[in-house]
Amino acid sequence: MPEVNPFATVRQLAAGYIVPRCLHVIANLGVADVLDETPRTAAELAESVGAHPDALWRILRVLSTYGLFALQGDQFSHTPASRLLRSDHPQSMRSFVRMFASPLYWNAYGELEYTAQTERPATDKSTPNGFWNYLESHPDEGTIFDEAMVTKSRAAAAAIASSYDFSGFEVVGDIGGGLGQVLRAIMNASPNSKGVLFDLAHVLEKAKYIPSERITFQAGDFFSDTFPTCDAYLLMDVIHDWGDEAAMAILKAVRRAAPAHAKLLVIELVFPDDPGPDWAKVLDVNMLALFGGRQRTLSEYRALLESAGFSLQRKIDTRAEHSILEAVVA
Ligand SMILES: C[S@@+](CC[C@H](N)C(=O)[O-])C[C@H]1O[C@@H](n2cnc3c(N)ncnc32)[C@H](O)[C@@H]1O
Repeated sequence: MPEVNPFATVRQLAAGYIVPRCLHVIANLGVADVLDETPRTAAELAESVGAHPDALWRILRVLSTYGLFALQGDQFSHTPASRLLRSDHPQSMRSFVRMFASPLYWNAYGELEYTAQTERPATDKSTPNGFWNYLESHPDEGTIFDEAMVTKSRAAAAAIASSYDFSGFEVVGDIGGGLGQVLRAIMNASPNSKGVLFDLAHVLEKAKYIPSERITFQAGDFFSDTFPTCDAYLLMDVIHDWGDEAAMAILKAVRRAAPAHAKLLVIELVFPDDPGPDWAKVLDVNMLALFGGRQRTLSEYRALLESAGFSLQRKIDTRAEHSILEAVVA
């Protein structure tokens, strides 16, 4: 392990949100969208996005030291990373950045001390009507969240579709499937299967505008509505949103709907044994702060599934970070 300077480590972590906050502002303002192949000064960019020239110059200057935009003289040009902030990039991460920049997320982190003291989600204080209700009543942030889910699942969707043989399933249900990005990848890989996308009504309204033969939409609530009858049920990055009690309620609802032969596929970043840095550890705190949820180890998943009436059969690692936990009715 390289020698670290403890002062620099603590200073970097203490002030660590300053650079991300610069990134948030740049993504919100749409700076990457107004920069094309011609390098431009901060003053020119500021005029296009309605920012202050010197303030934008200073924010872009620090970001350029992280490889977001390249600075030559007084002109900025794109780098591979800054291109990902463009709305029209096929792998655009603009909505993903804007999700972390949103009042819903940012205000929650202002209440993290409450979470540390109580293990309750910080959103209890910052958004007392609840995270999911907030997204429904703030459609702009709701759309940013749904698009961010598409971004975070983009690489995983292809990896999941190619790591598991879905062709034996007549009907695949994606429970809490968002805009349906993963289900669409599975439908492409398994041309004889049909899909059912189950999610909250306001999310499905957006999903319906994306053409998808063979996919039907079922609006509903995990906790009060009956899931469709399917041969396979996907729960991707859903269980980690919830504490054990609610996670168990979702799994039991699948158990009630599932025919005896059905497979349950829980798709998650399984919490690693390795003590080193890992995105799953950051995500774990994010789940704690936003929802009171958690990333779980393999044995925690096994126990949760068993308590809900399933038996974990195997863990299939994909070439992305997600693993598929295949379970059957016990
Ligand atoms: C973290 S997102 C995961 C989306 C998708 N599975 C993926 O991995 O990209 C969780 C999903 O659960 C949905 N959801 C949250 N609460 C729900 C509820 N009570 N009933 C149905 N869906 C719900 C959200 O709308 C969202 O699409």
